[in-house]
Amino acid sequence: MTDIKRVGVLGCGLMGSGIAQVAATAGYETIVRDVAPEIWSRARASIEKSLAKLIEKGKLAPSDREASLRRLTFTTATADLKGCDIIVEAVTEDLALKNTLWKELDVACGPATIFASNTSSLTIAAMAAVTKRADRFVGLHFFNPVPLMQLVEVVRTVTTSEETFARAFAFARSLGKEPVAAKDTSGFIVNLLLVPYLLDAIRAVEHRVGSVPDIDKAMQLGCGHPMGPLTLLDFVGLDTTHKIAEIMFDEYREARYAPPPLLRRMVLAGMTGRKSGKGFYDYALNPPTVSDLGL
Ligand code: 3HC
Repeated sequence: MTDIKRVGVLGCGLMGSGIAQVAATAGYETIVRDVAPEIWSRARASIEKSLAKLIEKGKLAPSDREASLRRLTFTTATADLKGCDIIVEAVTEDLALKNTLWKELDVACGPATIFASNTSSLTIAAMAAVTKRADRFVGLHFFNPVPLMQLVEVVRTVTTSEETFARAFAFARSLGKEPVAAKDTSGFIVNLLLVPYLLDAIRAVEHRVGSVPDIDKAMQLGCGHPMGPLTLLDFVGLDTTHKIAEIMFDEYREARYAPPPLLRRMVLAGMTGRKSGKGFYDYALNPPTVSDLGL
């Protein structure tokens, strides 16, 4: 544990609920803000399912389940997070939305509260600049599925103080994660390298270099990756990847970050991956089948 006691989480989608889960499991009082009680119910159900799985695998003691769930509370009021020592934001990749929340919290919170964004591709500087605590603003970038993935990128922007960076780094470690230090460049370390690879896999589908399952199999068996790139795209979400690619392309103006046309078409068609039931694979059946993309 660190000197941090209360953790706030903004947004309880896939990433936010995972972050809330690991914070509560690590012993922190955790308050989660999202816009509607139906979203809290979905998040709570996915946290309960994940905790049950971790107990089944012997990674969590059964007695920790109730204690972790007791430490979790939900609210729709952003200002309810004012008593938190650190607030981790995990809402959609929309700078205007994020900054509206940060501005509100900057007024509500005391000076000691650290602000941390789980952004995948926006720069931390663009959020820190709208607050009066740019020295107490960091990036804390988690990976999906948060309860299983070891890494957290701790991002220091030009204004982040040494003390804030050190506290955020210690906080990530206290969650049982392996933190690494990253600079505030769009995509940090992982997405800077991962996103062009995923987009290239879509281009490989467009150019019919191999079938969808063969491209996945090639990278799994040829490179030892736990998932092939197209399965990973379905897992992360095609809409999320599209948004990240657009932000990174806007930042770097390099063709390798440009969303391929097939990705755009699939997002337009609502084929966002696992969350919609269909992406490169169709999840209606178990095991999933390959989607017909009309190529
Ligand atoms: N909580 C608890 N348990 C979970 C879980 C969760 N959230 N998600 C999956 N599990 C369980 C599964 O139910 C499964 O249990 P079972 O063995 O009893 O069926 C177990 O974990 C292992 O899962 P799988 O058998 O499906 O297979 P794997 O051994 O491959 O592990 C994985 C799953 C850890 C997801 C692995 O496939 C993997 O590491 N995949 C790559 C994930 C990755 O690259 N993530 C990063 C994405 S990029 C990102 O997040 C950045 C963002 O900015 C875009």
